[in-house]
Amino acid sequence: MNSSASIILLILSLIAISQPTRACFSSIISFGGSPSDTGNELINLEREISYKLYVGYLPNGETFFGYPTGRFCDGRIVIDFIAEEFGLPYPPPHLAGAGPENQYFEYGVNVAIAGSTLAETSFFEERGTATPFSYALSAEVQWFKDLLPTYCSSSTSDCGEKLANALFIVGPFGRNDFRTEYLHNTSDDEIKTVVVPVMAERFISGLKELVDIGARTIMVANSYPIGCLPASFVEAPRNDFDEKTGCMNWLNDMTSLFHQQLEAKLQVFQSEHPNVTILYADLYGMTIDMILSPKKYGVEGNPFVTCCGGGGPYNYNLDARCGDEGAKKACDDPTKALFWDGVHLTEARYKFIATELVKQLLALPSIKEQCKDIKRIKDEPFFM
Ligand SMILES: *[C@@H]1O[C@H](CO)[C@@H](O)[C@H](O)[C@H]1NC(C)=O
Ligand SMILES: *[C@@H]1O[C@H](CO)[C@@H](O)[C@H](O)[C@H]1NC(C)=O
Repeated sequence: MNSSASIILLILSLIAISQPTRACFSSIISFGGSPSDTGNELINLEREISYKLYVGYLPNGETFFGYPTGRFCDGRIVIDFIAEEFGLPYPPPHLAGAGPENQYFEYGVNVAIAGSTLAETSFFEERGTATPFSYALSAEVQWFKDLLPTYCSSSTSDCGEKLANALFIVGPFGRNDFRTEYLHNTSDDEIKTVVVPVMAERFISGLKELVDIGARTIMVANSYPIGCLPASFVEAPRNDFDEKTGCMNWLNDMTSLFHQQLEAKLQVFQSEHPNVTILYADLYGMTIDMILSPKKYGVEGNPFVTCCGGGGPYNYNLDARCGDEGAKKACDDPTKALFWDGVHLTEARYKFIATELVKQLLALPSIKEQCKDIKRIKDEPFFM
């Protein structure tokens, strides 16, 4: 081999080493509500009603991006950190379009949008409890189906192979189904007997549609504990607090009932689809743990006091939400807070959750084999 050829070879191997590892998952497809939104609702409302949502203003985004992206957070959210772990770009919002800045969705796309529900829009319309500009999981699945030709066109492999190598993340969902009902004064009993079973059923039908398209690895995220959100204390207050957590029992009971039904259906679904790898992401349990042992997770002070808000006992105010006039400044150190804006967690907490979920995912036998070339995770010191 002559010297110029060996230099070229050396350069090529250096390039190969510096490339992020992509052997494991080729792309990330994300479905969910506001905790997973990377800009869709901000774009949607600007287009539909020329309204700039509060997440479109600083201090949203101040910790990481330095500008508001439409994430309900001071920085990156769970799906961003998962993408980082697998060497993939941050999942772009589908409403931003499949241009070169979003790599034509080659590495994935995010159809999650704030306000979304599990039960379909017509279900709430018939009940007289519908919320404007709200979309259901079924709509998100349809958006992704419509994007399939774009998502697959950039790939050298065939579409089925590409989908089989993708990581699908579905959830969290749930708060908006409950919220639209309790804001209409629906009784707890009716929510539990009429709405919850529909929520669990629609979650599973969404998963089924994705598997029918070709999804093979799905992270199913349950709901954050809705009875623990500062926003819930303010907008649906009831003197019904759990002694240990300080969260409201009635809303957490409702959330747990939804999870029980979802988990039961998920077991059946898994047995019917043995080739599909499912990771159940217990966001509920992880958040309760942070509330029970805040110090262990780096949270200081009262965990229910929101980092960015417009005043009041929990620093959550419906008239001045994070980014609105009157809520333009966040707490001094968001890394020490649990809640960013009264509904969503801070970047630091999302990073912990994502790190934990990636570990759990990589521990699954089928994924362990598929991802055996991923070295970053165990080499990196555990967060905190
Ligand atoms: C729900 O009840 C509250 C308190 O009684 C009332 O102020 C509110 O208007 C009711 N909301 C609806 C949508 O009926
Ligand atoms: C599961 O995968 C195996 C091996 O790839 C295949 O033979 C089998 O048909 C698959 N089963 C289902 C239910 O898809």
